[in-house]
Amino acid sequence: MDMNALYRTALMLAEMDQHLGVQFAMRPPPVEQTATKKEEVPETPAAPKPIEIDTTLPAAAQLAAINELLLKSTPLFTGTRNCVPGEGNPNAQLMFIGEGPGKDEDAQGRPFVGAAGQLLDKMINAMGLKREDVFIANIVKWRPPRNRTPTEEEAALSMPWLEAQIQAVQPNIICALGNTPLRALKNNYNIGITRARGRQFLFGNIPVIPTYHPSYLLRNPAAKKDCWTDLQLVLEILGLKTPKRS
Ligand code: URA
Repeated sequence: MDMNALYRTALMLAEMDQHLGVQFAMRPPPVEQTATKKEEVPETPAAPKPIEIDTTLPAAAQLAAINELLLKSTPLFTGTRNCVPGEGNPNAQLMFIGEGPGKDEDAQGRPFVGAAGQLLDKMINAMGLKREDVFIANIVKWRPPRNRTPTEEEAALSMPWLEAQIQAVQPNIICALGNTPLRALKNNYNIGITRARGRQFLFGNIPVIPTYHPSYLLRNPAAKKDCWTDLQLVLEILGLKTPKRS
């Protein structure tokens, strides 16, 4: 069928309608109004947005630019007091990544400053390092409501911020603290820290050693021994400890 001819005929009929006051043109049948419930269309999840930073700048300037963008952006959760971007040595060889800020971190805008943070500081010191030597960040940059675990989607939305931080710092190794960073960095939500801990994987070309989260260690002090084994491996990869002979 010639579509142009059909279109011309439809126009002509519509014109005749107008002039003669008669209905020649075909009208679509009236839509039946029913009282059935509108089908629920699932909301499309928000897509993570890449963070554009000038990667030729020194690490400290890149981190400052990331912080500035973070502070201007809409918080991932409502009811938060402060954004908690992360902090530490911009040229750190070692980066610790936690889950997300808790109450104390939200109040101060700094990562790992509560009870879990005090244990993390002890772990860092036991490794022969100082907090100022390392970089400490989290997967989510705002405190989740009631300290709940961030969802997979929330972690995915937050990853561009962390990726920009990793790109700026370029650590030689990352230590993932607990399930949330383990799963987000591995992009695998079917794994758990108990089986994955101490087993190296790569994030890009950076080795990652997963270990227990300090909050878990506070509740389960017996797991500190395994965590210490994992931290020794971190030191070994950094070349700060000679490998154990078997
Ligand atoms: N737990 C985390 O995962 N991150 C913090 O910053 C504090 C507690």
